[in-house]
Amino acid sequence: MELTVVHMEDCKDPLVLNRAGQTRVLPQRLLQLLVLFLFLCFIFSAVSTHMIGYFGVYSAVNPIRPNLLPPDGEQLINLDQWINPPSTLMHNMSDKELFGRASAVPRLEKYPFKRVPKIAFMFLTKGPLPLAPLWERFFKGNEGRYSIYIHSLPSFEADFPSSSVFYKRQIPSQVAEWGEMSMCDAERRLLANALLDILNERFVLLSESCIPLYTFTMTYDYIMRSKFSFMGAFDQPGPHGRGRYNENMLPEVNITIWRKGSQWFEINRKLALYVVEDTKFYPKFNEFCQPACYPDEHYFPTMLTIKAANLLANRSITWVDWSRGGDHPAMFGGADITEEFMERVYGGHSCLYNDQPSSICYLFARKFSPSALEALLLLAPKFLGF
Ligand SMILES: *[C@@H]1O[C@H](CO)[C@@H](O)[C@H](O)[C@H]1NC(C)=O
Ligand SMILES: *[C@@H]1O[C@H](CO)[C@@H](O)[C@H](O)[C@H]1NC(C)=O
Ligand SMILES: *[C@@H]1O[C@H](CO)[C@@H](O)[C@H](O)[C@H]1NC(C)=O
Repeated sequence: MELTVVHMEDCKDPLVLNRAGQTRVLPQRLLQLLVLFLFLCFIFSAVSTHMIGYFGVYSAVNPIRPNLLPPDGEQLINLDQWINPPSTLMHNMSDKELFGRASAVPRLEKYPFKRVPKIAFMFLTKGPLPLAPLWERFFKGNEGRYSIYIHSLPSFEADFPSSSVFYKRQIPSQVAEWGEMSMCDAERRLLANALLDILNERFVLLSESCIPLYTFTMTYDYIMRSKFSFMGAFDQPGPHGRGRYNENMLPEVNITIWRKGSQWFEINRKLALYVVEDTKFYPKFNEFCQPACYPDEHYFPTMLTIKAANLLANRSITWVDWSRGGDHPAMFGGADITEEFMERVYGGHSCLYNDQPSSICYLFARKFSPSALEALLLLAPKFLGF
């Protein structure tokens, strides 16, 4: 009894107290240790099997396959969980949380599994998509090669049927004003949501008045095979270009790198990450690019020219008609859509595609009013190819 008490109080050196019975105790102790060791081995192997199963990526990336690996089927399921985008596009993340999460997505050059890259079609709209029937025809049969995101006014409630490609593709949105920074915020929000799906490789910004000009396959190949991203970015002298630059943007933004370009862009994953992560240039544009400086015409072209000029094609792939003059490009309605008009949209272009001269320079066109839909659907088989 007394011995037990002492033992418990002075446990630093219990063996000394038991010196007399040491030889008898030792084998028993060894046995206990052995049992404990075996038990720990069992726990360790169970835990590691579980961990490898849980982080399915590890087993796919690591060329050394431990014996305890679960069967291949199970790995695939876990890999699926890793590569699958969030099951619903509606979430409660603030922009800050969203941009943080989007910046943290994997950025591997090579993926450890067969990956069919997708194009994210991002629709920046006020409300409905009046040209949706044309787009439905465009996307039909190409599942797995595209994803769709819609940013509209928060008050707008979409009612696409469950059979529509636009069904439940709305992202949490906020009011965006034309020509203001809130427009760039909306575009960044679209990019951030689309980045969460790691299969999205190229990101196209469109509006409700845009139409496709070619079949999906043609569009997909043109974009995927391009070495450059189709961001319009040019250095324009005069009041509507350099005239909008504000010296307070120094030292981050020098006038020699100040660029202008159409809001309707196509960018790759790397550039999309630059846009979503940016905290260096954003405050400068937010503060010093106010009307008559329009951030949606300068922020991305300038910022991406600074970050990665060598990746930009410096031209837009969205056709638009400024020939009527004024502040806004021409809007085309039902009466405008004739074969002659379509020939004008498709014809007479020349540009560089992967450093080679090309006559196919535009994959999309704007601006088309809802009244143009019927005529477009009629002419689509001949001109659009679907
Ligand atoms: C967002 O939050 C609201 C209430 O705070 C909740 O009812 C809703 O389920 C949440 N949505 C998601 C997608 O988490
Ligand atoms: C802007 O860049 C040019 C050359 O790229 C340089 O000569 C000039 O000093 C820069 N201006 C400022 C204010 O840093
Ligand atoms: C686009 O312009 C930048 C300069 O702003 C240049 O470095 C780049 O090479 C141009 N891209 C192409 C495809 O010519």
